[in-house]
Amino acid sequence: MKAIPSIVNKDGAWKLMADGKPMILLAGEVHNSSSSSLSYMEQVWEQGKKLGMNCLLLPVTWELLEPEEGHFDFSLVDGLIMQARQHEMKISFLWFGTWKNAQSTYAPEWVKKDTKRFKRAQLEKGKSFVRVKKFYDLAYSPLTYLCEETMQADARAFAALMAEIRRVDGEEHTVVTVQVENETGIMAAARDHSDEADALFYAPVPADFASYMQEHTDTMVPVVRKAVENGKEIGSWQDMFGDQAEELFSAYYTARYVNTVAEAGKREYPLPLTVNCWLNREGASAGSYPSGGPISKVREVWKFCAPNIDIYGPDIYLPDFQGICEEYTRRGEPLYIPECPTHSCAASRNLYCIGKFHCICYSPFGIEDMGRPLDPAQMALFGADASDPALMTSQDVETYSRINHLLRGMMDRLLSSYGSDRLDAASGEFVKENIFHMDGIQIRAKFTGKEGGCLILRESEQEFYILAYKTWLHFISDCQDAQGIDVLAFEEGQFENGNWQRGRRLNGDEVVANTFAAEEPVLLRVKLFTFA
Ligand code: DGJ
Repeated sequence: MKAIPSIVNKDGAWKLMADGKPMILLAGEVHNSSSSSLSYMEQVWEQGKKLGMNCLLLPVTWELLEPEEGHFDFSLVDGLIMQARQHEMKISFLWFGTWKNAQSTYAPEWVKKDTKRFKRAQLEKGKSFVRVKKFYDLAYSPLTYLCEETMQADARAFAALMAEIRRVDGEEHTVVTVQVENETGIMAAARDHSDEADALFYAPVPADFASYMQEHTDTMVPVVRKAVENGKEIGSWQDMFGDQAEELFSAYYTARYVNTVAEAGKREYPLPLTVNCWLNREGASAGSYPSGGPISKVREVWKFCAPNIDIYGPDIYLPDFQGICEEYTRRGEPLYIPECPTHSCAASRNLYCIGKFHCICYSPFGIEDMGRPLDPAQMALFGADASDPALMTSQDVETYSRINHLLRGMMDRLLSSYGSDRLDAASGEFVKENIFHMDGIQIRAKFTGKEGGCLILRESEQEFYILAYKTWLHFISDCQDAQGIDVLAFEEGQFENGNWQRGRRLNGDEVVANTFAAEEPVLLRVKLFTFA
């Protein structure tokens, strides 16, 4: 029997193990509604294949899974797993239970209608329905993180889902990870304002959590650290956490809720479980983004409350892609990106996340749209700079597909260099030029556009595989005492079944003056030699 998928951390490298070996999820998330129809999904699998993906992230909704309390319909889940196998792809299921983008739109009818049993959050005292003016006048009435009944009902449904996945997939392992809920948290208020919430908020902070927070200030973001350090030793949330109290309170109860759901699922089938988050803009106040969701700002709270969550993934639509990747890895955790845009930097970001951050998953959202014109209103909502053509133009399918194909061919090599300095990358989105210092050689990558990207893998002494796109490469010696440099081999090609399949040998005009122009995606094998 093959081992169940797992996340391992060995020799400083995080890896997802599937079918007994590591894999990188070259993934894509589908639009929210696509996986509610098996026939609709046929074209989406085709698109995923065309894009060279090896995994799709697919929503499973509570309302369709449990249309009547205690009566489950697994036909979609089973059908999606069968389709994935036919297309030789993996699945990461996304559980749209109590939360989907801080709302409860995918809760079943029997949950939505019974507002006494399944309580809504009070965004203002006594008000469990508001219109969010700043967010398209959204009619907003989420379920609360403080309702035991809803949490147990959600946990039962999630457990049933995981038991079904084990039943149909416990041997094959088509499903490799499962995301618990989607972009949790509460909008329009930093916390629930019901009487029950007030009672908890003004009561002493649970002692074990209070001391955990006081002992873990070193990893906290500055505003939270300051609040904890300036807060009282013991006391209410306000006493201990000052201006951060409401968000930390929401995070505490949301994380406990999600952990209860996750634990019930893991008991049935212990796949790696993930959460994703709607990120906060710098300086924004909690509630203008979902308060309590697993953003880096409240990572220590989630760490304490949700031990059953294995991976925290940022949905990166905000402009500072690079900074967010750095923030999500600075605590020594793996990079797993479940969502990001399909604009023309999508392909180079893929290279960049693998080469620079040795990521487990990179997954643009709405892959059905890749190659189609982007919706400017939606891009503006994500904070994309409308004057930047690279961010307002869609990624072309051919480039994305070619890069994924090349990455797939070299996946074993990439993975065996994860956690080491043999693998690095840069992207034209963040720098105009990058100098890689590798093995006595300076490899200069000058990007000819924001869409450009360059990944370098050092194979052996002064021998490299370089995946480059919209990049000018230039090679010079990095050794003071050996300034001479010669090209021993310069080839384009790709890996098939782990073996290098050479295309053209390019030692002549193409590398005149040790410079090579890669306007289209290309994988190169470059062997150099420095001498005195
Ligand atoms: C983030 C959510 O997690 C997705 O389900 C989807 O709604 C996208 N935003 C829309 O761009």
